[in-house]
Amino acid sequence: MSDDQRPARLAVLVSGAGTNLAALLGAIDEDPDFGAEVVVVGTDRPGAGGLDHAAASGIPTVTVALADHPDRRAWEDELIARLADHEPDVIVLAGFMRLVSGTFLARWPDRVVNTHPSLLPAFRGADAVGEALEYGVKVTGSTVHLVDEEVDHGPIIAQQAVEVREDDTETSLHERIKAVEHELLPRCVKLLSRGELAVDGRHVRVLEAHT
Ligand code: GRF
Repeated sequence: MSDDQRPARLAVLVSGAGTNLAALLGAIDEDPDFGAEVVVVGTDRPGAGGLDHAAASGIPTVTVALADHPDRRAWEDELIARLADHEPDVIVLAGFMRLVSGTFLARWPDRVVNTHPSLLPAFRGADAVGEALEYGVKVTGSTVHLVDEEVDHGPIIAQQAVEVREDDTETSLHERIKAVEHELLPRCVKLLSRGELAVDGRHVRVLEAHT
């Protein structure tokens, strides 16, 4: 919930299928105390599947493709401006496959959250599931964290382990990680939206009054 007790306004950024967006929308629908609403869905990929979930819920969408801009900076400036039109309080990167810069983060300090399909700091980057499988780890998982200027690095809000099976493929393992993300991401977004997280350097604490 924002300072004045109205629901926090969420912008959700997606690049792919948007199953995490769908899970977040479902969690908000089911929980009158969630304390947030999705006011805009943004993407860098025209036609991203996540846009269909937004449309089905009547949520406005913005598409800002890198290819339509002379450079990254112009692209990000446009993305910031188009999101800012909707006055979001919190930005959720839900499978958004582009990095955001310090300029973006300064606009929403400690208010940009990301879901990553590994137990960070292991397997940062875009191929976290494939690399975990390749490395032969027995356990990987899901991390939800605040975003800073380094890739998949900011303060961790929550993590949950997922066992790797001997017969796992990248697809089967990613499906089980996504099932975990679909619970973990909404839970973390709810805490952030309701002002129930205290951030101290790398450490994020759920405020005791709310546990
Ligand atoms: C998720 O596993 C997310 O952690 C990763 O990309 C996937 C996006 O899935 N960065 P979806 O678009 O939410 O279905």
